[in-house]
Amino acid sequence: MITESIFGKTKDGVEVKEYTITNANGMSFSAITFGAVIRKVMLEDKKGVLRDVVLGYDSVENYEKDDTYLGAVVGRYANRIGNATFELNGEVYKLEGNDNGNHLHGGYNGYDKRVWDAETFEGELGNGVTFKLFSPDLDQKYPGNLEISVTYTLTDDNDLMIDYRAVSDKDTICNLTNHSYFNLGGHDSGSALNQYAMINADFVTEADAKSITTGKMIYVSGTPMDFTSEMLIGDHIDDDYYQLNYGLGYDHNWALNKKEEGEMILAATLENRKTGIKMEVYTDLPGVQFYSGNFLKGELPGKDGVRYLKRYGVCFETQYYPDSINKPEFPSPILKAGEEYKTTTIYKFV
Ligand code: GAL
Repeated sequence: MITESIFGKTKDGVEVKEYTITNANGMSFSAITFGAVIRKVMLEDKKGVLRDVVLGYDSVENYEKDDTYLGAVVGRYANRIGNATFELNGEVYKLEGNDNGNHLHGGYNGYDKRVWDAETFEGELGNGVTFKLFSPDLDQKYPGNLEISVTYTLTDDNDLMIDYRAVSDKDTICNLTNHSYFNLGGHDSGSALNQYAMINADFVTEADAKSITTGKMIYVSGTPMDFTSEMLIGDHIDDDYYQLNYGLGYDHNWALNKKEEGEMILAATLENRKTGIKMEVYTDLPGVQFYSGNFLKGELPGKDGVRYLKRYGVCFETQYYPDSINKPEFPSPILKAGEEYKTTTIYKFV
């Protein structure tokens, strides 16, 4: 089932719509045209109680004020670019240094702050909604007119699939992700640290004190970054380990174990044993930023007035590695003129 409603208006008076897609099992998600935000993901726990497992807000105003990217699509380049600078085809591009002089999630007017066009559909795999955005040449100082579409499809197997597509008329860089914060105990259940996570990665990219990748890979075995088997997120998050000290907890890019570039694999899992809700994350992208919500402060009231404090939700941001445009040893985020940026991430609920 697909329903459509008016969610509200931006401060400039632009209408924001919300779409809710429900599958045959009674699982649903709701997404809004502001930031292509996934605002709700509802499913039954093991006792049959309906839980909303993502953090979100009840008003457009709070999404406009938010600086934590709750549920949004971020871009043109998700995560950080060191010194807010990169070079492409001999040309130097200086971006907005919105994070300690580095560039983060597209800068001050990221895709998370735009009102996207939307169209719902009923498809073979499931029903869903496609969001579209046009990002003109030199928008956020990136080269190339970029036509973007992000499609959310909900299958009857409880897969929430995200298909990202983009085409530019000039060579550019592109790295789109979704910034949903999950708490499988429910968005209103407090800390997310009592959940088990697995990340299918033997290596994590080393970050410096400002979360810029150094180019070095850390073998996770024997460190608190080892999620190769399920581990309680809270078990080692406050260990005295230099990477955790820099990130104030988990906020790092794991280099996924892949046999070949573009292979779709199980990248991560998240499980809450109290509610019995488990999520699997699949992606064809090379990395995942596992971010434990260290900067959440509950400044704005969330859904039903709930305040989301530090570590009340965790993100699995599938992506090219941070600062990969300045690290030739990393998989390249360059999108050539006329070629299609095409990647898929699935959040599957089992
Ligand atoms: C994450 C990033 C964090 C923080 C957060 C937004 O993707 O890795 O360092 O900036 O977004 O608050």
